Amino acid sequence: MDLKQHIRGIPDFPKPGILFYDISTLLRNADAWQVAVGRMAHAVSKAQPDILAGVESRGFLMAAPLASKLGCGFVMLRKPGKLPGNTVSYRYDLEYGSDSLHIQEDAIKPGQKVVVVDDLLATGGTLAAAVELLRAVGADVTAAAVIIEIMALQGRRKLDVPVSALVTYET
Ligand code: PRP
Ligand code: MG
Repeated sequence: MDLKQHIRGIPDFPKPGILFYDISTLLRNADAWQVAVGRMAHAVSKAQPDILAGVESRGFLMAAPLASKLGCGFVMLRKPGKLPGNTVSYRYDLEYGSDSLHIQEDAIKPGQKVVVVDDLLATGGTLAAAVELLRAVGADVTAAAVIIEIMALQGRRKLDVPVSALVTYET
């Protein structure tokens, strides 16, 4: 199955000049979604994760079913102000301004193998921040996985772990 047939590009969203790769059409197709989760499970299982960490919000959509399929725990990396209890954060730069990701300080047992999951790798800023945040709470980050990689932005250069992508687009 060609998963690209189930992903649509919507021009000028959320800003003029941006082509938004919309996975809504993939999620709503039962067969395509099952194939996507199955392919990522195959890719990620080699990294032998104890935990999958999903990046809010679209990363949750893939990480949670994948963790269930692989028999792993699932941990949330969230945007500011969402997680209860003591948290650790990591701030990262965006094209304009900055953002931060947060994790509960006791989310990872020391040395647990963690694979970080998101829907899309663009500049790599989000995934690189996720990897650093996970390391700050003691994770052994063994890989990253995404549905879509935008090749021209060379985001994987920011990452020092193996990255798998189900589909790639040049821009
Ligand atoms: C998008 C996407 C990735 C990130 C990729 O998330 O879901 O998480 O951007 O971009 P990067 O590689 O340049 O960092 P967004 O922040 O738009 O939020 P959402 O997942 O909550 O929709
Ligand atoms: Mg996101």
